[in-house]
Amino acid sequence: MNIAVFVSGRGSNLKAILASEELKELVEVKAVISDKISCPAFQIAKSFSIPTYSIGDKAGCLKYRELIILLLDLRIDLIVLAGFLKLLPNELVNAFHNKIINIHPALLPSFGGRGMYGPNVHKAVFESSAKVSGATVHFVDYTYDTGNIIVQRCVDISDVKSPEEIAERVIKIEHELLPYVVKKIALGKVSIVDKRVIVL
Ligand code: GRF
Repeated sequence: MNIAVFVSGRGSNLKAILASEELKELVEVKAVISDKISCPAFQIAKSFSIPTYSIGDKAGCLKYRELIILLLDLRIDLIVLAGFLKLLPNELVNAFHNKIINIHPALLPSFGGRGMYGPNVHKAVFESSAKVSGATVHFVDYTYDTGNIIVQRCVDISDVKSPEEIAERVIKIEHELLPYVVKKIALGKVSIVDKRVIVL
């Protein structure tokens, strides 16, 4: 299965995908795409000799229309949003219907939506006094964090003293959960029946 990974920053989830021994036999990361001209995740991609592309209005960046053509040319089967901060345009979502997944660092449908990314999520979870948090992998639709949920995993946060402590616990789960979901999709074990996503 050919995948493209979309990133905006650090790239630790991209690294988790590239480091997964199980995925090596199942998927090839054909491209890493960012809304930034450069970001740490691009360095990770380059260290694996994976081509990187920036999207946007600046010189040398691809427009979304061009990106869709590139992704089709590369025969991308799955787009993985791994810390990508921008909302995807409808044309891209339509071109890859049910072939785009996102990882979110909380238990959706709580603590999602516009502005709910990175430290903002963990701060909101901390301030709510929630006793569990976790990670969610979901299909991407036209709005932030609202697509059908594929898999979630929880972590106990009843004893944490800061949002940073929540972030540390959640990111460990993310690094297991995202490669797991990519593997299940590559093996054809994920299907949508009515509105429920079944993972075998
Ligand atoms: C992760 O917490 C992910 O859930 C969220 O953005 C963060 C990206 O981290 N969407 P990284 O760039 O993969 O290290």
